[in-house]
Amino acid sequence: MHNEAHKSLLDWYQKNGRHDLPWRQTDDAYKIYLSEIMLQQTQVKTVLERFYFPFLERFPTLQSVADASLDDVLKMWEGLGYYTRAKNLHHTAFTCKGVLPRSPEELGGLKGIGKSTAHAICVFAYRHALPILDANVKRVLCRYFALSVKDEKMLWAKAWEFLHVKHPYEHNQAMMDIGSLICTPKNPICKECPLSLTCKGKTAPENYPKALKKAKVPTKKRFALVVYNEGKLGLVQRKERLLHGLWGFVQAGELPKDAKSLGSVTHTYSHFKLELEAFRCESLHVKVDGYFTREQIETLALSSVDKKILALPSMMGNIPPTS
Ligand code: ADE
Repeated sequence: MHNEAHKSLLDWYQKNGRHDLPWRQTDDAYKIYLSEIMLQQTQVKTVLERFYFPFLERFPTLQSVADASLDDVLKMWEGLGYYTRAKNLHHTAFTCKGVLPRSPEELGGLKGIGKSTAHAICVFAYRHALPILDANVKRVLCRYFALSVKDEKMLWAKAWEFLHVKHPYEHNQAMMDIGSLICTPKNPICKECPLSLTCKGKTAPENYPKALKKAKVPTKKRFALVVYNEGKLGLVQRKERLLHGLWGFVQAGELPKDAKSLGSVTHTYSHFKLELEAFRCESLHVKVDGYFTREQIETLALSSVDKKILALPSMMGNIPPTS
C-alpha cells in the first residue's frame, strides 16, 4: 500500500540516518530503554553530550540500577530534569530484578514505560514489527496523512497502517530522524523529505496538526532560606511530587524576621516559572533535614534551581553575614 514511500524512506535512512547514535549501535535492551527514557523529555544533543555515557559508566546494567540507592540514581540524573523518570527507572529495575521482560504488554505495564516506549524497546532490541509513536513521529504522521487533529486512536491506526513490517527497525528510526531533522515543528524542509511525493500535508504543513493556543505558564514567587550552622548549610530532602528525593534549600512563601537578601534566581519548569529570592536566615527559625559542607553537597542530587542559588556571587567565599 505504501510501497513507494517505504522504498524512499529506507533509501533516505541508509544515506542520511543518524546511524552513529550509541543506542543504535547496541541490542542491549537496558541501554535502549535508558536512551528512550532520557530522550522522552530531553534533546538528543544534551543526552549524548552530558548524560548517557556517564550514567552507563556508573550503572552498566539494569541490575546495577536495582542494587543502587535512589539517591545514587538521582545523583547521576542531576541536571537532566523530570526526575520522576529516574525514580521510575529505579523502581522498574528493582521490580523486574534487573531483567526487562520481552513482550510489549509486560513492558508497558512497568512504571514509566508507556505503549510507545514499550514498542521502541521491542523494535530496537528484539526487532519486533511494531510502530513507535513519539511526539516527532506523531507530527510526521499528522502531516503525511493531513490530520488536523492529534487524535491518539487515529494516530495509532495510521502508524500501524504505515509501518514497514519487513524493516521495522529502519522504518521507525527513519521516522524519528525525519521528525527531528526534516519535518520540524517550524519551517519543515519538505524539499529534502523522502516522503514528500506522497505527503498529503506538504502544501500547508503548519496546519497539521492545527496548533492549539498555548496557555501562558504562571510565575510563582517564593523565598529560599539559606541557613548556616557551624560552617555547614541546612538543606531539606524534597517530599513533593516535583523534585521528590532531591536536596535543596527550604522554600517558603513568607520570610522569617531578620532575613537578609542574597540575590534571586529563576527556573522554568514545564507548567510554571519559579522566581526564588534567596535569604540568609537564622538557623533557629528554620527546620532542615541536615547540615552539609560544600564538599558534602557536591555528592548530593540537587535540582537546577538550588544549584543556581549555590552559584550566587553572595554565596561564594565566606559564610554571608546575617546583618
Ligand atoms: N528519540 C527517541 N528515541 C530515539 C532514537 N532511537 N533515536 C533518536 N531519537 C530518539
